[in-house]
Amino acid sequence: MMICDLEEIEELGIFDGINEIIATTANEVGDPNAAPLGLIKRGDSLSVRLFVGTHTYENIMAKGKFVANVSHDPMLFVETALNDIPEERFIERDGELTLKDAEAWALFKCEPNGLDISLPEVEFVKGEVLKREFRAVNRGINLVVEAAVAATRYVALKSDLYLEEIFKIRRIVGRCGGPREIEAMDRLEELIEQFE
Ligand SMILES: Cc1cc2nc3c(=O)[nH]c(=O)nc-3n(C[C@H](O)[C@H](O)[C@H](O)COP(=O)(O)O)c2cc1C
Repeated sequence: MMICDLEEIEELGIFDGINEIIATTANEVGDPNAAPLGLIKRGDSLSVRLFVGTHTYENIMAKGKFVANVSHDPMLFVETALNDIPEERFIERDGELTLKDAEAWALFKCEPNGLDISLPEVEFVKGEVLKREFRAVNRGINLVVEAAVAATRYVALKSDLYLEEIFKIRRIVGRCGGPREIEAMDRLEELIEQFE
């Protein structure tokens, strides 16, 4: 069932605060891209903070839209933050570019208003729940997402402080995470080595 009313956006797993989602976008010639993005919700106001120079930024500026894919897969956060994922991981739903494995997806319009192009307001258009996930809080997955943030900063700024953070996180993920979290941390370390 398609959801089109902002009042019902929580049905899609999007709540007040910063929602860490995987944004899918396409460029002018239709090449798909996926990257983690924080979707900021404060009451009825929705916005994103876009780092200039990423594909996500270029594609949103070009097309004026993106899809937020809700996922709890730690590997997806790692792979899309530091790498590209193959085209077969994408699928079109209701005419929009989404991820095959998404738990829910939501389309947002994003018209840069010129005042602050790096912090545009966005408008909810429509979305759909695909799988209803119900799970206890796990420190492991949250920390893999935190490590992916540190890794993107490390790649951009090359400060060893981020590496220390990642090593500290690795120990807790080893204790609290399941096999998928541990595999995702291994992959994260493998990917950042390529940038050293
Ligand atoms: C959990 C998480 C949240 C992120 N949030 C944002 C964000 O809100 N805005 C942004 O521009 N980049 C954000 N990033 C960084 C981008 O995902 C990263 O720069 C990525 O490499 C961009 O890929 P692209 O060039 O394919 O768009 C985030 C990364 C992670 C791991």
